[in-house]
Amino acid sequence: MSVRHLLQLRDITQEEIAHLFKRSVVIKDRFKRYERYHPLADRTLVMIFEKASTRTRLSFEAGMQQLGGLAIYLNTRDSQLGRGEPVEDAAQVISRMCDVVMIRTFEQDIIERFAQQSRVPVINGLTNEYHPCQILADIFTFIEHRGSIRGRTVAWIGDSNNVCNTWLQAAEILDFKVHVSTPPGYEVEPERAGLVGTDHFEQFADPHDACQGADLVTTDVWTSMGFEAENEERRKAFENWCVDAPMMQRAKRDALFMHCLPAHRGEEVAAEVMDGPQSVVWDEAENRLHVQKALLEYLVLGRID
Ligand code: CP
Ligand code: NVA
Repeated sequence: MSVRHLLQLRDITQEEIAHLFKRSVVIKDRFKRYERYHPLADRTLVMIFEKASTRTRLSFEAGMQQLGGLAIYLNTRDSQLGRGEPVEDAAQVISRMCDVVMIRTFEQDIIERFAQQSRVPVINGLTNEYHPCQILADIFTFIEHRGSIRGRTVAWIGDSNNVCNTWLQAAEILDFKVHVSTPPGYEVEPERAGLVGTDHFEQFADPHDACQGADLVTTDVWTSMGFEAENEERRKAFENWCVDAPMMQRAKRDALFMHCLPAHRGEEVAAEVMDGPQSVVWDEAENRLHVQKALLEYLVLGRID
C-alpha cells in the first residue's frame, strides 16, 4: 500500500478534511479537560526545519508529546542536511527510524523528492509554494466561529504566496470563493498554486474591492522567508495592501480577520484590525495544535472514529 503524505492540501479529500475536523474537536476537548490521550505511544515524529519557526515547531513538538509520542527536531545548521547529503539519502535513513516526518523547506521539489523515498508519511510544514497545515487550522477556526465555509467568500490581500496558494486549493476542495488582491507583478500563478481551474477565485486590482462582502479577510507578510533580498522592493510595491479598518468595513459586518503569523503591524495589517474585535488570530494559532494532532493521528494510525 502506498504511504499517504500531506505535501499540499490537494493530497487530501473533502471527506478526509471533514474527518480531521471531527477528530480535532474531540482531541481539543480532551486537551482542554486534561484528559490523557496517548494513541501515538512509542511512535516518533522527526521534524526537519530549513527555515525559522515558532508556531509550527511548537505545535508539532507539543502535539506529538501530548499524543504520547516523541518529537525530534533537526535543522540544516547542525545536521548533515546542511552539508550536502542528498535529500533522497536523508529520506531513506530518517524514514527507517521514525513513524512520521514533518518538513519545512524551500522549493516544493525538495519535499516531493524526500517523500518519494520515504517509508513513512511526510507532512509539509511550509514550503515556498504551500502551507497546508496552516489552512487546515484556519478553516477549522472559521468553522468554530461561523459554521461551514462552503459557499463563503474569503478575501486574500497581499502577496500570492504559499499561504495564498493553499487558500486557493482549499477553495476548490471545499467549494468556496477567494477574492485575491495583489500588487501588479505579484499576481496568482494558477499552475504554481496547483489549481485545477479558475472558477473559485477572482483577482481584484483594488484591495478594498476584494474585501467587498467577504466573510473572512486574511493576509500575510509582504516578504516570505527565503525572499528577504526583495524586502525593500516589496515594501514599496505593497504599501497600499495593508488591511485596515476601511477595508474591513467593505467586508460583511460579521467578517473575521485572520493572519497565519508572525504579523507586522503597520505593514500588511493595521494594529486596529490585528488587535480589533473581528480578529481571531490567537484562536487560529492555537488550532494549529489541535488540527495537527488529528493529522498525526490520521497519518500514523489511519481512521479512528
Ligand atoms: N504560521 C506559522 O507557520 O508560524 P511559524 O513560522 O512560527 O511556524
Ligand atoms: N508566507 C510566510 C508564512 C510564514 C508562516 C513565509 O513563508 O515566510
